[in-house]
Amino acid sequence: MMTTATAHSNIALVKYWGKRDPALNLPAAGSLSLALGGLTTTTTVRRTTDDRDLLVLDGSRADPAATSRVSAFVDLVRAMASSDDRVAIETRNDFPTAAGLASSASGFAALALAATRAFGVQLDDDAISALARRGSGSAARSIPGGWAVMNAGQRDDGADAFATELAGPDHWDLRCVVMVTAAGEKRIGSTDGMNHTMRTSAFYSAWVDSVPLDLEEGRRAVLDRDFERLTTVAERSALRMHASALAADPGVLYWNGSTVELIHRVRDARRSGTPVFFTIDAGPHVKAFCPADAVDAVVDLADDSSVDVIVSGPGGGATLVSE
Ligand code: DP6
Repeated sequence: MMTTATAHSNIALVKYWGKRDPALNLPAAGSLSLALGGLTTTTTVRRTTDDRDLLVLDGSRADPAATSRVSAFVDLVRAMASSDDRVAIETRNDFPTAAGLASSASGFAALALAATRAFGVQLDDDAISALARRGSGSAARSIPGGWAVMNAGQRDDGADAFATELAGPDHWDLRCVVMVTAAGEKRIGSTDGMNHTMRTSAFYSAWVDSVPLDLEEGRRAVLDRDFERLTTVAERSALRMHASALAADPGVLYWNGSTVELIHRVRDARRSGTPVFFTIDAGPHVKAFCPADAVDAVVDLADDSSVDVIVSGPGGGATLVSE
């Protein structure tokens, strides 16, 4: 049996950074994101009689660390299906993998959908989102897609820690201009960065305490299509997340010189009347959000030849392509 699913990456406007239960990958607080239609992962899962799982990523056999992370995830699906079948997984990103563009979000979302179907496990969207969360917290938000809210949940088993759609992709036509400031993988992955922050940052609890208000204001801003309010919330959330990482011991600094330069350019452009704000994940890239008619002006902010730009708009949820 062969099953193919696609999912879009997503960018958080209210960040997830910290876990209340690392084993079940339960977030310490909620988050809010927009799925990006231009950044897509397509994943095919085939059950095999081999004695081990195979993962092929963008045409090449994945390294052992990536394969075992994916195998451990498929184990969850095998347990639900009471099956020992191994799988051959082929996955493709139409954007640079692990360049800090949240390929784990779209990757585990597409895999959660394709693998459950391949094993004949029937789950509703909330349960698939909760399952995707086990692979990567941000992946839970790529199941509903669009403007999505991740619920931190309260249950110990994590069954209420899934993401739901706040508004569909057609609700608000913002664009995300991804400014790729460095090539290659990030130095410290998000899981390690957030675990280290949790363990050692003097500011971690202040960060977690600040999220519920940001989440409420972010939800309101999205529902009201209030760009100014979303600007305030999104920049505040990103900067506080990075402040908590900077205050770890030793401090985690994801930015490079171009990151800082682009933050200033975005803020200068805003002062001159261009509606634009930035957010930054666990890497050096700057993601600038703006209305569609401001895209050209925002792309011009990254006029440096060393900065690649990817422009994307709202995308929908994870979809089954064939089975
Ligand atoms: C900075 O979802 O990659 O992008 O759950 O450990 O796999 P794990 O972490 P991951 O972390 C995402 C962190 C972030 C912010 C966000 O997407 O909310």
